[in-house]
Amino acid sequence: MFRVTAMLLIFTTLLTTISTIGWVDSNGSNYSNVRNGPKFTPSGELQRPTGFRRWIFIGSPITPNALNGGAAVFPEFHNVYVEPSVFDFYLRHQRWPEGTILVKELQLARPGSFRDGSREEASGRGYFPGAANGLDVSVKDARRFPDTKGWGFFNFGHHAPPYESTATEASIAACAGCHISSAHEDMVFSDFYEQLRPEHDATELPDQPTRIPGND
Ligand code: HEC
Repeated sequence: MFRVTAMLLIFTTLLTTISTIGWVDSNGSNYSNVRNGPKFTPSGELQRPTGFRRWIFIGSPITPNALNGGAAVFPEFHNVYVEPSVFDFYLRHQRWPEGTILVKELQLARPGSFRDGSREEASGRGYFPGAANGLDVSVKDARRFPDTKGWGFFNFGHHAPPYESTATEASIAACAGCHISSAHEDMVFSDFYEQLRPEHDATELPDQPTRIPGND
């Protein structure tokens, strides 16, 4: 009996140790609060996140060309996705954990028939999603990106898929600079994503983070 109890104790201690250590990546970054953290090549390029269209969709700002002097930087819908364990963490703590990946996939609006780029559909006049057209990603990792407030920015192509399979960190001028000067909270434009409001927590979430079968 004593041996069984002792074995059980060792087993439980082991389990607890494993689950509290979490995931430490090759660079020493601690991603213990995320299930699918960023993956980097040995030379520090970010590997394109996979399966993100099955993550949590948190919003879709749109900045059409016709409303931006004909030359918006990103004229498409900006579909933003976040990995489910990060979404759960954010709802609970209202901050982004180390290892957060935010994916912004660009999606063209269908060709317009009015001067503002809009068109008429059965639901009314507006902007309607068309083809996918690019992939931008931001990653939170204080060890890797100390010069840009702990976030790295990556572009996997501004064109139709397939996107590039890896990306080098973009320059401060290309990406991080604007997020440093204008982002709402911790380098993210969080105010645009209604799904991140804390009031969703009590009503929508189960007690434990949702397990995504096959996504561990
Ligand atoms: C001129 C300012 C500016 C530049 C430059 C810029 N962004 Fe952003 N970014 C924004 C704004 C504003 C939003 C939210 C509203 C939107 O999408 O229009 C955003 C949203 C994002 C998001 C979604 C998460 C969030 O922070 O809201 C990602 C990911 C992102 N940008 C990555 C990039 C990458 C990668 C680059 C460089 C290729 C880049 N951004 C360049 C202003 C900028």
